Amino acid sequence: MAEENEAPSIKITLIGNPGVGKTCIISRYIDDVFEENLTSTIGANYTEKTITKNNKEYQLDIWDTAGQEQFQSLGKHFYKDSYIVCLVYDITSQASLDSLKEIWYPNLLKFGEKYTVLAVVANKSDLYENEDLADEKQAKAFANEIKGIWMSTSAKSGDGIDKLFDTMVDKYLNPEFNAKVAETRGGQTGMKLQKSDNNKKPKKKFC
Ligand code: GTP
Repeated sequence: MAEENEAPSIKITLIGNPGVGKTCIISRYIDDVFEENLTSTIGANYTEKTITKNNKEYQLDIWDTAGQEQFQSLGKHFYKDSYIVCLVYDITSQASLDSLKEIWYPNLLKFGEKYTVLAVVANKSDLYENEDLADEKQAKAFANEIKGIWMSTSAKSGDGIDKLFDTMVDKYLNPEFNAKVAETRGGQTGMKLQKSDNNKKPKKKFC
């Protein structure tokens, strides 16, 4: 029997090319800060945040994976049990959108879970005035094609960040989606039970 203080954990993974803003999206969501000139992620970082939905606590395990090519093969290890995946591109880089279609999504299909809540995330929306923008229509069509949602964010201004995580978790918690996951897991949902301490401060782990 689950103890009362056990909060189910939900794994969320962010993938995409180097520099698209995965780390910054997470920092904005967790600590409400924006850091310029970050160094590239090595391997992956992992952060926890406790949220409340419908009077129930959940622990989000958010995985920030490295975009650099030499780490891309590691991705497959992070897709396991990740029923929420954000495919992030930079709106000022068509190449980063192309990579989602040509590299990141095919990899996820190969190594990820059968049913996943997917978002194609157009980050750096504060740079909308830029002349050289990735093709938004194409990005929305891609999101549609993979049965995901397209969402616009700016880690710099904070626009769309809370909405992104909120929408993804809501979709995940939808009983219909959870039933599909349970179907592939012999009746179990994708959530694991975690002992929640009363300390709600987000924790960061690096690997
Ligand atoms: P890797 O760790 O190499 O995979 O990169 P990443 O996707 O984690 O990118 P990161 O979060 O390190 O951001 C790269 C750079 O983009 C940072 O130096 C930020 O200053 C900048 N950046 C991230 N998000 C935004 C945004 O929303 N707007 C603007 N203008 N810049 C951003």
